[in-house]
Amino acid sequence: MPRTPETVYFEGASVFDACILAQFDLCQRLEDLADSLPFKVDTRAAAILAKQLQSTLCRCHRLEETIIFPLLLKKDTKIHTVLDRLRHEHQEDEDHARDIQESIQAFVMAAHKEDAERLGYMLRCMFIPLRRHLAFECDYVMPFLLPTASQ
Ligand SMILES: [Fe+2]
Repeated sequence: MPRTPETVYFEGASVFDACILAQFDLCQRLEDLADSLPFKVDTRAAAILAKQLQSTLCRCHRLEETIIFPLLLKKDTKIHTVLDRLRHEHQEDEDHARDIQESIQAFVMAAHKEDAERLGYMLRCMFIPLRRHLAFECDYVMPFLLPTASQ
């Protein structure tokens, strides 16, 4: 069965939704870790988060940039400045995630937890702007992929 433009956009919205949910989940896990510092840290969960953080972010960003953004540009070429800003934020988040991954791993391995305050600050500097980015994508970008009431 041929794929209609509506089907393509609906599938794009589903991919985008899955990416957004996966990143909101990362934010919650980063916040849980920050709230558990310094002495209530689930080190196993922290180690898993450190391992998944960058790979999940990169996977979501590549899907957004290679599948979703081209669909959005087909609908409205004026959106390119918004997409450039989102792409820039993706890169910042990936750079930050690399630093956080190393800091979490170091914290988990350390016998003394004197770096807790620094790690907490780094975690909050990751999940607060990431939630803002995701809320923008939900509220402003996602509607471009969905059919309007008049269609
Ligand atoms: Fe994004």
